[in-house]
Amino acid sequence: MAKLQTSFVCAECGASYGKWAGRCDACGAWNSIHEEAGISAGPATKSLGKAKGRAVALSTLSGEDEPPPRRTSGIGEFDRVLGGGLVDASAVLIGGDPGIGKSTILLQAVAGFAASGAKAVYVSGEEASAQVRMRAQRLGLSEAPVLLAAETNLRDILTTLDAERPDLVVIDSIQTMWADHVESAPGSVAQVRATAHELVSFAKRRGLSVVLVGHVTKEGQIAGPRVVEHMVDTVLYFEGERGHQFRILRAVKNRFGPADEIGVFEMTGAGLREVTNPSALFLGEREAKVPGSAVFAGIEGTRPVLVEFQALVAHSPLGTPRRAVIGWDSSRLSMILAVLEARCGISFAAQDVYLNVAGGLRIGETAADLAAAMALVSALTGQPLAHDAIHFGEISLSGAIRPVAQAEARLKEAEKLGFTRAFLPQRIKRDSESGMKLHESVDLPGLLSDVFGTVADTPRPAARDIAGG
Ligand code: TYD
Ligand code: MG
Repeated sequence: MAKLQTSFVCAECGASYGKWAGRCDACGAWNSIHEEAGISAGPATKSLGKAKGRAVALSTLSGEDEPPPRRTSGIGEFDRVLGGGLVDASAVLIGGDPGIGKSTILLQAVAGFAASGAKAVYVSGEEASAQVRMRAQRLGLSEAPVLLAAETNLRDILTTLDAERPDLVVIDSIQTMWADHVESAPGSVAQVRATAHELVSFAKRRGLSVVLVGHVTKEGQIAGPRVVEHMVDTVLYFEGERGHQFRILRAVKNRFGPADEIGVFEMTGAGLREVTNPSALFLGEREAKVPGSAVFAGIEGTRPVLVEFQALVAHSPLGTPRRAVIGWDSSRLSMILAVLEARCGISFAAQDVYLNVAGGLRIGETAADLAAAMALVSALTGQPLAHDAIHFGEISLSGAIRPVAQAEARLKEAEKLGFTRAFLPQRIKRDSESGMKLHESVDLPGLLSDVFGTVADTPRPAARDIAGG
């Protein structure tokens, strides 16, 4: 057996250190490193020795394999994020903030899998069986043939699974599980790692699927899901703004489907309801004709999604004005503000700037640059943008508007939702004619003066900036 000794581990990513440090070098998290017993120290000290193993059969890359069989939960958005259903004998991790709705969506999904004939077990380490039953009642799932256990002891759970031989087991949550061969407390990196490893390898051996719930932790008190990410086939994150009813299930890793796929849900009094047309939902609350609002035609996974970028610009009493962003990258906002100032002569210097993506969606695409820039300038000038227009395009440091992928899909979605105008980069190839009025532009200063008239107060030629004055 490997020698066990005390070491220091990061609760975020599981990296281990010889001594304590304030910041984890591996993942950059602050204050997440703490002392823990029971992690085997360093590389194995004993070599493999001379004993021979057995020869492994080698195969070629060619050859026809059946696509893996999949089970569907009947919740379309959930199955889609998995890549078309749950693959047999796969391991899935669902991470998310406490209270975001992981237990709720899983109970609904498990009921769906059970209804389609799978033998499903739901193991709750956080709630008593009565609590889970109450939730099931609220969700209208009391009659679903799901087997329930409230247990945290891994040995007992594995023994039970061995006897019951289910097709699917949900472990809610991995941080509450406890293996008696590991010294440290439940929720520690060593326990989370060991229990996840045991469960995943048991599942692979027995051909059952395992779904692990992992709480995301900000404080580093208990180990986060990242400790488990590399052990599983699929990693999903459940996201959403607190106080907002929208929830987004996002695949960040998937061996059996496209990563970055999203499923959109709405939290209601009777559980999570799938949203099949997210664009309509995200734009549903849009007010008519307010300055600072621009609709972005984005792509999330394989699907176009329309969202509203909202900007607010207000005079700042501070020496260093505030820049606050929700749902987008803050360094990207700084870049757009710099381009607006240096290339277009539009300064936000003495202004607080707020940018918000409505509906709680997080946008990662650089194609959102143009929508953000338009929202910002509209907020600054007080001129609302056309209500029936969408925007997309990447903005380069020179102020050029660069083409982005899947322009046709974005336009098609916008047209479907009744938009009639689009501001976009010049398209390289025109596969199809759009029924919309298209404003294709190559540079931001030109586009802004077309839309807003002359807004630049201190026009500065781009060449001077490049030459360095
Ligand atoms: P839960 O699934 O327990 O979150 P997690 O497992 O991620 O910690 O969800 C808890 C929240 O969801 C709680 O604030 C109540 C709310 N909720 C509803 O709004 N409607 C419902 O039908 C259910 C079951 C929960
Ligand atoms: Mg829960």
